Amino acid sequence: MMFSCALYGIILILCIEIGKCISQDLLFPNSFNGAVGGSVEFTLYSAPPSNPVEVNWNFGVPFILRLKDGVLNIQPAYQDRATLDTTTLTLKLINLRFNDTGTYKLSVTNKEGIYNGQTSLVVYENVSDTKLTGLGKPLIETKSIANITCDGNGNITSVQWTKDNNPLNPSDRVFFSSDNKSVSIGPVIRSDSGEYQCTLANPASSETAKLNVIINYGPENVLIDGLREVGLGQKVSLSCSATSVPSASFTWKFNGTDTNVNTETFTIDKTDLTHSGDYTCTARNNVTNQKNDSQSHSLVVKEGGGGDNGGDGGGGGLTTVAIVGIVIGVLVAVAGICGLIVYLTKTKKIPKVSLGKNKPTKQAPPRRQEQELNYAEISHDKKSGGEGVIPGNMNESKTEYAQIMHGTSAKPQAPPPPYGNQESKPSSLPEGVTYAQVMKRS
Ligand SMILES: *[C@@H]1O[C@H](CO)[C@@H](O)[C@H](O)[C@H]1NC(C)=O
Ligand SMILES: *[C@@H]1O[C@H](CO)[C@@H](O)[C@H](O)[C@H]1NC(C)=O
Ligand SMILES: *[C@@H]1O[C@H](CO)[C@@H](O)[C@H](O)[C@H]1NC(C)=O
Ligand SMILES: *[C@@H]1O[C@H](CO)[C@@H](O)[C@H](O)[C@H]1NC(C)=O
Ligand SMILES: *[C@@H]1O[C@H](CO)[C@@H](O)[C@H](O)[C@H]1NC(C)=O
Ligand SMILES: *[C@@H]1O[C@H](CO)[C@@H](O)[C@H](O)[C@H]1NC(C)=O
Ligand SMILES: *[C@@H]1O[C@H](CO)[C@@H](O)[C@H](O)[C@H]1NC(C)=O
Ligand SMILES: *[C@@H]1O[C@H](CO)[C@@H](O)[C@H](O)[C@H]1NC(C)=O
Repeated sequence: MMFSCALYGIILILCIEIGKCISQDLLFPNSFNGAVGGSVEFTLYSAPPSNPVEVNWNFGVPFILRLKDGVLNIQPAYQDRATLDTTTLTLKLINLRFNDTGTYKLSVTNKEGIYNGQTSLVVYENVSDTKLTGLGKPLIETKSIANITCDGNGNITSVQWTKDNNPLNPSDRVFFSSDNKSVSIGPVIRSDSGEYQCTLANPASSETAKLNVIINYGPENVLIDGLREVGLGQKVSLSCSATSVPSASFTWKFNGTDTNVNTETFTIDKTDLTHSGDYTCTARNNVTNQKNDSQSHSLVVKEGGGGDNGGDGGGGGLTTVAIVGIVIGVLVAVAGICGLIVYLTKTKKIPKVSLGKNKPTKQAPPRRQEQELNYAEISHDKKSGGEGVIPGNMNESKTEYAQIMHGTSAKPQAPPPPYGNQESKPSSLPEGVTYAQVMKRS
């Protein structure tokens, strides 16, 4: 026992040292995939042994090619399909066929020993002609079951479905066939609408088909939008809307009687009193074969223009006629006021007002004004509460004063005179004094 163990150990060590007793591994990926008509390159993970004396690539028993003493020998069956990279020892096969599927072995001999490795190839037929089918009749919400099938040619090893780019998962309404090539959805609801994709694949290729699914429903929420009150002789439009796939078509009733209007909008170009009444629209969906009525919409045509707008209507307030009327009225009023001012100014009921009224007017010397104007100082004696005006400071000898009765009947038509402002007021006069301009007549 002891002896055989020791011998084995010695042999092992010798083998490792010399490298000729056991074959060493050449590392490949476990398997390669190829497509019919395509190509494959069997490339080593590990560095190839240096200075090979002999290289053999085998498929089953017969060799594909052999490199010995620098001479490459390729089997006639592989003459046009196999090549060897003498540096990396990679075998490349082109124009792959199904029967290339199998195990490939490489053996390399050099001075150190023999190296072996193997891997496998699976050749798939590319996926082609992928299509989604199954939607014959239009799908109607809550009534239809969608039954979609994905088909294609080639070797199909996986089937995957998405809806609007998200995975389509089984649920209480979504069932997949055992091979996943068919999906049954139903009863359908409107959110089942969307783009369905199926991807058929094998390790060498894949192909995707798309199908737009439309779920038809409605009409629902049939609504009339428009004025409820309108003036006589005006244009009015009522519009009908509905939630519907496909879009609904519309018909209109007035006071319960069919009109021949079959557009979305019911338009009255010029209202008269006979247009007052109840309007109803009916929406129809020609795929679901359903119809639905709106609530009735009452319209009142009001005599005497005006045209108050109704509660839910459009029109935000005044009619054009009213606006024009107001504008004209304002213009007339402004013109009248201007005329009055001009008249009063010309007839000197209003003095011409200096533009520099509120600024110290240095260019207008006070002396010149003093020649033409006289001052009256008027103090209101509030304690007396009466009409009497007590003359103020009369210490300026050059100035002539007039006593002015502050009567309630006197209309203060004129604005204060230009010199009555704060800046030009004589400093000797107390604050809160009222000035009146008095023209001195000769
Ligand atoms: C198969 O599919 C692969 C990947 O899509 C492609 O490279 C190859 O050319 C295809 N082969 C044929 C024969 O169409
Ligand atoms: C592999 O298939 C090709 C045709 O695809 C055929 O010509 C060839 O003989 C087959 N090879 C073997 C070993 O059966
Ligand atoms: C869906 O289609 C498959 C294949 O055509 C069929 O076997 C199945 O009965 C259909 N299912 C429904 C609900 O129509
Ligand atoms: C691919 O399909 C062919 C026939 O359609 C079949 O013979 C072959 O075994 C399939 N290959 C794989 C890898 O499924
Ligand atoms: C079908 O698809 C589901 C996931 O969507 C997967 O778990 C299942 O293995 C697939 N079945 C087949 C036969 O491909
Ligand atoms: C009619 O409209 C109502 C409310 O919008 C809705 O509940 C009903 O399902 C609709 N009828 C049809 C046939 O779509
Ligand atoms: C329509 O009905 C309204 C109210 O029901 C009624 O006042 C009006 O006269 C009717 N108009 C016509 C033209 O029948
Ligand atoms: C339904 O109506 C639309 C227009 O709204 C029209 O294009 C379509 O052809 C109609 N379909 C049927 C089945 O009548």
